[in-house]
Amino acid sequence: MTYLLALDQGTSSSRSIVFDEHGYAVSSAQAELPQHYPQPAWVEHDPLDIWRSQLETARQALRQASLDASRIRAIGITNQRETTLLWNRHTGQPLHRALVWQDRRTEAFCAALRDQGRAPLIREKTGLVLDAYFSAPKLRWLLDNVTGARDAAERGELAFGTIDTWLIWQLTQGRVHATDVSNASRTLLFDIERSDWSDELLGLFNIPRSVLPEVRPSAADYGTTAPELFGQPIRIAGVAGDQQSALFGQACHKPGQVKNTYGTGCFMLMHTGDQRHTSRHGLITTRAAQPSADAQYALEGSVFIGGAVVQWLRDGLRCIRASTEIEALAASVPDSDGVVFVPAFGGLGAPYWEPEARGTITGLTRGATAAHIARAALESIAFQSTALLRAMRQDAEQQGLDIHELRVDGGACVNNLLMQFQADLLGIPVVRPAHIETTALGAAYLAGIGSGLYLDLDTIAARWRTDAVFTPVMSRDQAEGRMAQWEHAVRQATAR
Ligand code: G3P
Repeated sequence: MTYLLALDQGTSSSRSIVFDEHGYAVSSAQAELPQHYPQPAWVEHDPLDIWRSQLETARQALRQASLDASRIRAIGITNQRETTLLWNRHTGQPLHRALVWQDRRTEAFCAALRDQGRAPLIREKTGLVLDAYFSAPKLRWLLDNVTGARDAAERGELAFGTIDTWLIWQLTQGRVHATDVSNASRTLLFDIERSDWSDELLGLFNIPRSVLPEVRPSAADYGTTAPELFGQPIRIAGVAGDQQSALFGQACHKPGQVKNTYGTGCFMLMHTGDQRHTSRHGLITTRAAQPSADAQYALEGSVFIGGAVVQWLRDGLRCIRASTEIEALAASVPDSDGVVFVPAFGGLGAPYWEPEARGTITGLTRGATAAHIARAALESIAFQSTALLRAMRQDAEQQGLDIHELRVDGGACVNNLLMQFQADLLGIPVVRPAHIETTALGAAYLAGIGSGLYLDLDTIAARWRTDAVFTPVMSRDQAEGRMAQWEHAVRQATAR
């Protein structure tokens, strides 16, 4: 038996999972990642926290599985995307804490570029919207605000990277400065059709080319780990951004296959094969994980407040003590009794794109209780995901694609009440796989391909196993009525 080690560096934690060659997890270790909020709307991570916690969990996972490095065929890396780092090539020292994807400090700069009419060029080249979410404005901020950074960059002394690139650099002790196409496609600097950094965009953001990593397919040779880290070298053979990795781990390899990850936010991606599609309904185009030389594309939409609404019920409203209590509280009433909760705490993302929207609860009566609000909060996750899937479906239809089912993963997909309501609203089956850690699994599979363990995608698709299928039971009229209630509440959340 041979094994694959997946490193899953997420926003809130670093995790490592050892999988056997059949895709079964044999051990896993996790460490929380401290968050830094130096100012409102600024979010930072300490790069050394990221590296040390990732290394420590990898070692723990190997110990737990009683495996030494010689049994590991390859490492796959998956990571929180867009988060931006700059470090010195000679010393390896970061110049600043990482600017996390949630960080909004560059919003005014992006707004100024939008006012100058730059958004269409960016959309054309990168498939993305011009937003502070992505890496380029963050990198520009670092170059302009860290003393001496720009001069050092012009002298070729600095390296930029998203978290995958930072981990590869650390694991290879500076021998490899590389990223994969799925991560590169989130920077606002990558021409997704030419598969290369765009000189025009580098000029627009004033970024010297010398800081950029080399871009490789997601299953490829990323070097080997320094021998002292795990006792002997392990090859790094797979890399992908976490959402594209989850799409891959869900065996969504064909056009029209869709997954939704229910985490703090929700991320829905539809594979569109080797064709780039441009959404007419508020979604972005991104590169999917690329197991071979051929470019692969996806459409993506995200919900900013998904599972985070449950945290708000716990920490803000204090109507539950632990997140796990929500299902029982919500199930203690037969329905939300007309209460609709739009958790637009920081605006609404796709397909609405309403940055000024704010959280709104409608339909309260004298009889409303915490249970109704909890139920409405849970339902809001499904309503928002339905709005995304409807947008995706409209785009898919224009391309002659049909969406048959939604594959789900992430922490909140264990909530049966939520999954049933999701299926009811969508009118298509919601399918939960046996292994819901599909993000790490995707990275492991990519490493398996990159190291020659798997020879084709069919081998991986054959390993994908179902845990539960939620079939719609609500009538379509009733579902339409519920969505109309939701859209009505969204209008109120955005009317200010
Ligand atoms: O685009 C941001 C996304 O990659 C973050 O994912 O799971 O770390 O919250 P996660």
